[in-house]
Amino acid sequence: AFKPLVFSGVQPTGNLHLGNYLGAIKKFVALQDTSDCIYCVVDLHSLTAQLVYDDLADQTRSITAAFLASGIDPKKHIVFNQSRVMQHAELAWIFNCVARIGWMNRMTQFKDKAGKDRENASLGLLAYPSLMAADILLYRATHVPVGEDQKQHLELTRDIAQKFNNDFSDRIARLGVGVEMQVGEETVNGYFPLTEPVIGGPAARIMSLRDGLKKMSKSDPSDLSRINLTDDADAISKKIRKAKTDPEALPGELDGLAGRPEAENLVGIYAGLAEMSKEAVLQEFGGQQFSVFKPALADLAVERLAPVASEMRRISGDRAYVDAVLKDGGERAGVLAETTMKTVRDIIGL
Ligand code: ADP
Ligand code: NA
Repeated sequence: AFKPLVFSGVQPTGNLHLGNYLGAIKKFVALQDTSDCIYCVVDLHSLTAQLVYDDLADQTRSITAAFLASGIDPKKHIVFNQSRVMQHAELAWIFNCVARIGWMNRMTQFKDKAGKDRENASLGLLAYPSLMAADILLYRATHVPVGEDQKQHLELTRDIAQKFNNDFSDRIARLGVGVEMQVGEETVNGYFPLTEPVIGGPAARIMSLRDGLKKMSKSDPSDLSRINLTDDADAISKKIRKAKTDPEALPGELDGLAGRPEAENLVGIYAGLAEMSKEAVLQEFGGQQFSVFKPALADLAVERLAPVASEMRRISGDRAYVDAVLKDGGERAGVLAETTMKTVRDIIGL
């Protein structure tokens, strides 16, 4: 069997928001007690949105500081930025030749980001999931904690692994580099694992505070739509106070949230921050008006986020330390990556 290994990445573009924190980073922190973890600032992915940034290296440092401030231990695990380990791009190229254009065309994130003028989107934006598959499979990671928006990309990662394992099955067997895996009823032998997403809990998809049908996102033009990890107590309270809701009181049970996306979102945020279930939140606040729930949520958000923000500021101030973490992590990741690529080149015959 494959050794359990966790990989995930965050792009260094824009402010980290509550969705990134609850949907991804908090899970990164939780998984480090039970698994070996590799957490990556995926700077190459940022180039799919625009090629030139004023401050990409500083943004990379800031995401790194957020990882460390949230409690990720860079000595026990690996924290680095993607562009330091060139094997990510090398394996992505091979996967570009494994994956089919039709698979990429079906990706909802590509359709959303490319908009109407798809012919004019960058080839990189189309190939994004292939680079993501390379990030994960370069370490033969078995588990990837992500928000729900990444589910389709994880399915594609499995498709790429499966096609690679199939297309090269004879060579994998001849070289003796395969590992036994259970695929449905069958036991198969492959070089790459079929990676499992780690998605779920009450905060797998945090929605905009202004529109319960849109995901909270870095790219939303309205700053009131998201809580940034770096927001101060006043900003957090104001955004929650102004969050869109409906006039009803909170229900006592989960069914009562049906058709009330804004209410459900705020309950999910409370649950994610407090590490309790939505049911438990409703047991506590069922029957209460938002005029009672919102201030309680604001207090909780400030209590949980303020220490992370202040630790982030402290760590960001020590630029030499952050750079040293990335350098050390990059070196350790590079060793693992080259081990995989040596085998992949052998399998392909390069
Ligand atoms: P963004 O989607 O904000 O541009 P990234 O693509 O870098 O940010 O995503 C980093 C991680 O945060 C991913 O695992 C993604 O699934 C997760 N994530 C992003 N937005 C949300 C959200 N609104 N709710 C839950 N998780 C999210
Ligand atoms: Na995303």
